[in-house]
Amino acid sequence: MSGLSVAEVEQLGARGFFVRAGFLGPALATAACADARARLEGGELRRAGVRRGADHRLDEAVRGDSICWLDEHVTGVFHDVWRRFDELRLQLNELAWLGLRRTELQLAHYPPNGAGYQRHRDAFPGDDNRRVTAIVYLNPAWEPTHGGRLTLFVEPPLEVEPSLDTCVVFRSQVIEHEVQPSFADRFAVAAWYSAR
Ligand code: OGA
Ligand code: MN
Repeated sequence: MSGLSVAEVEQLGARGFFVRAGFLGPALATAACADARARLEGGELRRAGVRRGADHRLDEAVRGDSICWLDEHVTGVFHDVWRRFDELRLQLNELAWLGLRRTELQLAHYPPNGAGYQRHRDAFPGDDNRRVTAIVYLNPAWEPTHGGRLTLFVEPPLEVEPSLDTCVVFRSQVIEHEVQPSFADRFAVAAWYSAR
């Protein structure tokens, strides 16, 4: 797996995002795929919450995925995934001076029933919350008809297929984005880096 390039750092600074085709490398990406499915089938994932309250249907309209959190103590394949994401944090600090101190990692599964995630930002402007989001996809046989693209509301808007080992990195406080309705099982691992 290659490190951050100067061009990527420049694009993150100038446009607020970059996309690359390989992040974990084929072997780890493929192993993580299998592990993600095993965790789903093992019942480790829980419906993601948006807001608390009685109207669950409203939540589902906003966000249809199920998630589990992964920390540095996670075992197995996802330990290597966690380390790879934390390595990216250190590279961002080295090359982009972002002062990122914390990595939060989440595995998400969107079921094939049109689940998506409405347009949102991951953080609000302010120094001590999430600054950078990095997402890698774990879907080896993704087809355009499966939907599930990530739209980044940049100029012009960018659509990213959630294909195996594609990685998107963007500034959490700046870039609005949305997951289009998904019609196949869609796995994503998201990292949020914060300065506190
Ligand atoms: C999120 C998110 C995008 C994706 O979890 O906040 O926006 O492509 N995920 O899975
Ligand atoms: Mn998001």
